[in-house]
Amino acid sequence: MTRPSRVLISGAAGLTGAFVVREFARHSDRFTVAAFARSAERVAAAGLEASGAKVHYGSFEDRESFCRALEGQDIYVHLVSLGFGHAPTVLDCCRLARVRRGVFVSTTAIFTDLDPESKVIRLEAEARIRDSGMDYTIIRPTMIFGTDEDRNMSRLIRHLARWPVVPVPGPGTSLMQPVHAADLAKAIVAAASTSIAIGREYNVSGADPITYNQTLDLIAELLGRRVLRVHVPLRLMIPLFWLYERLMAHPRLSVEKLYRLNEDRAFSNAEARQDLGFEAMAFREGISREIDEMTNRAPSGDRVSSIISRAATHPSKAPFRAIVMANGR
Ligand SMILES: NC(=O)c1ccc[n+]([C@@H]2O[C@H](COP(=O)([O-])OP(=O)(O)OC[C@H]3O[C@@H](n4cnc5c(N)ncnc54)[C@H](OP(=O)(O)O)[C@@H]3O)[C@@H](O)[C@H]2O)c1
Repeated sequence: MTRPSRVLISGAAGLTGAFVVREFARHSDRFTVAAFARSAERVAAAGLEASGAKVHYGSFEDRESFCRALEGQDIYVHLVSLGFGHAPTVLDCCRLARVRRGVFVSTTAIFTDLDPESKVIRLEAEARIRDSGMDYTIIRPTMIFGTDEDRNMSRLIRHLARWPVVPVPGPGTSLMQPVHAADLAKAIVAAASTSIAIGREYNVSGADPITYNQTLDLIAELLGRRVLRVHVPLRLMIPLFWLYERLMAHPRLSVEKLYRLNEDRAFSNAEARQDLGFEAMAFREGISREIDEMTNRAPSGDRVSSIISRAATHPSKAPFRAIVMANGR
């Protein structure tokens, strides 16, 4: 009988990381799981030790800590953004530790027609991975959602639970295809499990494309809320976002994000389905799960969570009705 493969996962305490660690741990007959993480607090919040993972603390800035964590591993799974510029360190440590198999998570954002700084870094990182001599797989998710930890759907859920109005930059008709972190985790484990995936690159997206308007409508419906959609032309929003970006120390919104929102971001997952047996849950199911999760985790007495909670138990009480105030780019 062959021993289980030893797998090290970086970015393990992040949104996707928690799902990936659990998914590998579920296959303990085939994998022994180790996590590379920066802080004990984040490790505890992600429940990594409960899933039986051995945790190696460190960061890519402390190169030795990463090289040490890789010693004796068979497979490396990279979940930290390739846009942070760590690829040279990562690939060098893999070479020194003789870890040949690697699954690297990139992003479909590399296909954007826009020119964010991170695009060049990500493309360069992907090229280095291809040239590294490793048995690599590149996985490119679309927008990832699934828990309070995501920085997209959870914000929309909170906003729609709290406010009766939601501003929509532009017409809101661009497509996106968000993927649930649980589905993405299965694709990553499947890629690490098959030699078919070696040297291959997969876009991993949700079940179906959906517009921003449809996303808002669905969340409001599931929350049992009436929300007024106010479409604001992009030409009015751009100067406001530009100013906001310059005034705030840590802006959560940017002009680039505004443009991205109005770019089609739907990608086929046909190759992942064929090679990895990938299956994505319907967006409605994924977002319902996220609402449930947010309800269960929120502190009691919190106003937003009580709205979410009421909606989760009585989803059909207040049918959603959106009103489009103005339209146009
Ligand atoms: N989120 C999306 O919508 C989305 C869409 C497409 C692609 N992706 C890609 O998918 C991957 C996973 O995304 P995610 O949203 O799940 O990530 P995430 O929640 O932001 O988590 C990233 C993890 O990386 C760790 N990390 C950051 N810098 C590090 C460093 N210098 N050294 C060591 N660890 C470091 C963080 O550690 P701490 O826990 O200590 O902060 C965190 O656990 C990323 O490569 C991302 O670019 C994400």
